[in-house]
Amino acid sequence: MELNKRVQNLKPSAIRKLLPFAAEAKQKGKKVYHLNMGQPDINTPKEFFEALKNYNTDVISYAPSSGHPELISEVIKYYSNLNISYNTEDVFVTVGGSEAFSFALMAVCNELDEVLMPEPYYSNYNTYMQLLNIKAVPIKTKSEDGFHLPSRNDIEKLITSKTKAILLSNPGNPTGTVYTVDEVKMIADIAKDNNIFVISDEVYREFVYDNHPYLSFASLDYIKENLILIDSISKRFSTCGARIGFLLTKNKELQSAFFQLCQARLAAPIVEQIAATALYQTPKSYLDCVIHEYEKRRDLVYECLSNIEGVFCKKPEGAFYIMATLPVDNAENFIQWMLLDFDYCNETLMVAPAYGFYSTDGLGLNQVRIAYVLNEEDLKRSMKILSKALEEYSTKSKK
Ligand SMILES: Cc1ncc(COP(=O)(O)O)c(C=O)c1O
Repeated sequence: MELNKRVQNLKPSAIRKLLPFAAEAKQKGKKVYHLNMGQPDINTPKEFFEALKNYNTDVISYAPSSGHPELISEVIKYYSNLNISYNTEDVFVTVGGSEAFSFALMAVCNELDEVLMPEPYYSNYNTYMQLLNIKAVPIKTKSEDGFHLPSRNDIEKLITSKTKAILLSNPGNPTGTVYTVDEVKMIADIAKDNNIFVISDEVYREFVYDNHPYLSFASLDYIKENLILIDSISKRFSTCGARIGFLLTKNKELQSAFFQLCQARLAAPIVEQIAATALYQTPKSYLDCVIHEYEKRRDLVYECLSNIEGVFCKKPEGAFYIMATLPVDNAENFIQWMLLDFDYCNETLMVAPAYGFYSTDGLGLNQVRIAYVLNEEDLKRSMKILSKALEEYSTKSKK
């Protein structure tokens, strides 16, 4: 029996490919520090669990397709506090940010249409594009530039009659890059002038360090018809497993399309939407502490990496990722070796090989993405292990 070709042709995720080796390492009794996934270790606010405990019903019914009204109303208030105005009809609750960007791509693109994305990008964008037969067109960025954007001219050269949208995450996964106000305005201008959409994934919006200025695309009124905003509670409130995200747009045609898509999958989970509603009562101090914690971790990892011979990275401005170039030919082989053949006092480390965040062949081979989702002590230990591993790997390669 034959299965769908597009699903069969999906490349295995670069991170998941290595997971069996991490399992093998653990089976052999090694401790593995996991810096490979964007799964925060931060406690979820107690407001979420209290709402779950207090939820009392006889029937778990479907929520309205576009979302639980009380959650939507909290989301509107949240945006209003950012001086961004959204109305009820502009907001759709989705099953995580993942469903939000998949719906955005479905609503905007026909097969063989093109979507521009700063590369490296969040690899799941490309997974959905492959499934929908949409062509991902990379806007190449360089680690030496902190993965900031090239000129308007360089980006506009990539636009064809098939280009439907620019999709980007800001702050970025996997780069941690926060685009400057000028960069955000440049993308907005390109979209407006070329009549294409901006799909702006802002799930890491609060994770911005050093008082770096942050501009949401939603603050730019002149692109409101072009803009689709992707949001999620996963990272902001450390609730990755709750699977609640948002799709926001002021474009009426898109609203009808999103409504159809939301109806087709009936509803997002009601219990999690009720608990998510309570998250918006979390005191401001929660997020302030979380941001401070990530900033300290970023500083620590950046400093440790900068002191390892042959490693190159720029200090990222946001999210909780650092891309580092390692003095190895193939980072995937190096990670596999760290898991299977190396230990430092019976401990080792797993990071993400970066080639999975590129579609341009040959790029990212010697880079890794480090997610600083462990406490400072474990991060310090992980960086020590990385340094020892690189030392031993280099001696071994010279033999
Ligand atoms: C940039 C970006 N967008 C969206 C998502 C998906 O988040 P969710 O858990 O809301 O589906 C992630 C998850 O890591 C991400 O990094």
